[in-house]
Amino acid sequence: MQLRNKDILGIKDLDRDEIELILDTAESLKWVSNRDIKKVPTLRGKTIINLFFEASTRTRTSFEIAGKRMSADVINISASSSSAVKGETLIDTAKNLQAMSPDIIVVRHGSSGAPQIISGAVKASVINAGDGCHEHPSQSLLDLLTIRQVKGQIEGLRIAIIGDIKHSRVARSNIYALTKMGAQVVVAGFPTLLPPEIEKMGASIRKTLDEAIIDADVIMMLRIQKERMTGPYFPTEREYSMLFGLNAKRLKSAKSDVTIMHPGPVNRGVEISPEVADGPYSVILEQVANGVAIRMALLYLLSGRKHEESRKEARDENNN
Ligand code: CP
Repeated sequence: MQLRNKDILGIKDLDRDEIELILDTAESLKWVSNRDIKKVPTLRGKTIINLFFEASTRTRTSFEIAGKRMSADVINISASSSSAVKGETLIDTAKNLQAMSPDIIVVRHGSSGAPQIISGAVKASVINAGDGCHEHPSQSLLDLLTIRQVKGQIEGLRIAIIGDIKHSRVARSNIYALTKMGAQVVVAGFPTLLPPEIEKMGASIRKTLDEAIIDADVIMMLRIQKERMTGPYFPTEREYSMLFGLNAKRLKSAKSDVTIMHPGPVNRGVEISPEVADGPYSVILEQVANGVAIRMALLYLLSGRKHEESRKEARDENNN
């Protein structure tokens, strides 16, 4: 089985079989990261460009590590070091990068839809590494892998996503992914941070944090995305934390085998207390570790697809 599309632009475009293929492929590639010599020749000769217009620690580093562990040539470009600062348009940047024949371009951008625009301008595969408030598909896939690892399955679980849903591309991708995989998703947050379309996406709204977490198998806490806020969405961080911050006392009302997740970066003491973030139920660092495996799987599957396509092109040429 292969991925149907040239790009990974969002979970919305993937079906359940494709999600399972990515998770299984990531699982089968994990061993590379667990041995002394963390390198295999799988992507030798492939060129991957990481084009990041927004800050990132986990996503950019893990895409770079993923490519290098499979012997690809990986080039990192950040907005501040690109000709975007001189006024070059996104499409011109994309076309100029395409002229250098990359195989995959990984894009993070502050504008929703930027990876789609690049995808239309290039032959290379495009992976969305987070676009505005739209989607963050590779984060969602690593979250699914972590849940499957800890709970054994995703189907039938109840997942509570708490916090700034409105500005969260992680929440959107996870609502699509978890519902496709047969989980039930509940969300809670300040009313100003709950977009009305969220229920149409398949999630149900709970008024309080306690109502959302009481029967949850997994609790995903989200950061307040101040960089995307244009006005005050809640009175103070202290009040936000009192109502929607997860601490050890509130966690007592959750299930005894609950799993705590957070995509990072964590604002300790705001949406999650340090004792919960570092506590026994937290799998935050397992999420980060799984990020490398998922990104290896995405690079591998998209490269394989291109390999098949070029073989088909060569066959067609021979037949003509
Ligand atoms: N979760 C996530 O996207 O983290 P970074 O912003 O550090 O990449």
